[in-house]
Amino acid sequence: MSNKPLYGDATSKPSTRNVGGWIKDLDRSRRAGPYLAAHPMDNMGMSTKAVHAGTHDDPRTGAVGTPIYQTSTFILHEETYGSIEEGFGRDRFIYTRYGNPSQWAVQEKLATLEGAESALVFSSGMAAISAAVLALVDKGAHVVAASDLYGGTYNLFNQEFPSLGMSATLVDSYDIDAIEAAIQPNTQLLYFETITNPVLKVVDIPALVDIARRHNLRLVVDSTFAPPPVMKPLELGVDLVVHSASKYLNGHSDLIAGVVCGPRKLVDMIWPRLLNYGGQLDPHAAFLLERGLKTLDIRMRAHEQSAMALATFLETHPSVDNVLYPMLPSHPDHIRAKELMKMGTGNVTFFVKGGDQAALRLLDHLHLPKQATSLGGIESLISLPFNSSQATMTARQRADIGIHPGCVRLSVGIEDANDLIADFDHALNAITDMKGAA
Ligand SMILES: Cc1ncc(COP(=O)(O)O)c(C=O)c1O
Repeated sequence: MSNKPLYGDATSKPSTRNVGGWIKDLDRSRRAGPYLAAHPMDNMGMSTKAVHAGTHDDPRTGAVGTPIYQTSTFILHEETYGSIEEGFGRDRFIYTRYGNPSQWAVQEKLATLEGAESALVFSSGMAAISAAVLALVDKGAHVVAASDLYGGTYNLFNQEFPSLGMSATLVDSYDIDAIEAAIQPNTQLLYFETITNPVLKVVDIPALVDIARRHNLRLVVDSTFAPPPVMKPLELGVDLVVHSASKYLNGHSDLIAGVVCGPRKLVDMIWPRLLNYGGQLDPHAAFLLERGLKTLDIRMRAHEQSAMALATFLETHPSVDNVLYPMLPSHPDHIRAKELMKMGTGNVTFFVKGGDQAALRLLDHLHLPKQATSLGGIESLISLPFNSSQATMTARQRADIGIHPGCVRLSVGIEDANDLIADFDHALNAITDMKGAA
């Protein structure tokens, strides 16, 4: 067996020795990747892609599954010296902040699942989001984004942007006319979430794509709540998709990671931000994410099955006022959900009669779901926005984005639906009896 190091797919050699210049040269032809061993899987199903794309067996020993390349650096040779000099280091292994085979394996899997040419993994969802946004806007630029974004992204636009000489207008993601009206001459980017948290609005992505095309803007969406088996935003015309991979993509609540997926020319523009700001994914975490992804499709089916059964049960319970689950006909966006979503997820939001105090009592009576923020893990997680994710908002601000008293945010895991229903039945009956006794 050859001792020659694996070089990766050296496809992006620039025509000139313009160091770093190739990144901004959007006309330069690029191949997909970078991939260590490209796996053409276009016609295969989601589970086959989840298991096989990107994953490779150890070339030296034949051990099955991608080895963990737990190294900070790589032996340099003629080709890597050349790539450093010429500024196309994304296609070579030089130093793990630049790239590592464990990252490449999971990047190929993620790109294949999203139907993207290229993907870049990060140490958190926020690292991915901030690098992507800051790579795509210039100083003085303006962004139009959703008003009910995830809190970290909201802070990026509200707190970081002004100090960097940029601005953002935050608009209700339902109000397509207001989104278009918010565009200014210096607007460069539209930034939205495909499904919002916690009221699970299904955003009209095709309408946003139309606005972006007509105004020559880029559209980036955070699809953390709708991973690839549920929605493929790139197929809908979005320019870039970002995820907190800490949620459904990894699926086991045991790591923090993020990813950007899209055309290679845009992902190449984001790569220098990864180098400059740091935020690269450690090889061991990349291995864990790759392992978690192998069951993404099968996990999502289990999440959907249990969430649908539990949401249907909750709708019938007298102590529950309202249930929000896009796959239920009662959800305000049910028709759009049927058009844009290939399946449901595990996120269910509901409102308990008796307000936040009743919701707090409900949590005390539940045995299976764990009281924790986050979502997308195999275990059910439950929290109340009023004292966790939206605690810094006033009751009025919460009401404006649909978070009324008694709101419960539930990420249904893959536990058996009957066990979850029995647990909620018992807990809801307990708080109903207490109300009666009071
Ligand atoms: C929709 C969404 N986007 C981004 C993030 C940030 O991801 P991370 O915690 O991996 O940085 C989160 C985290 O909860 C999220 O819910």
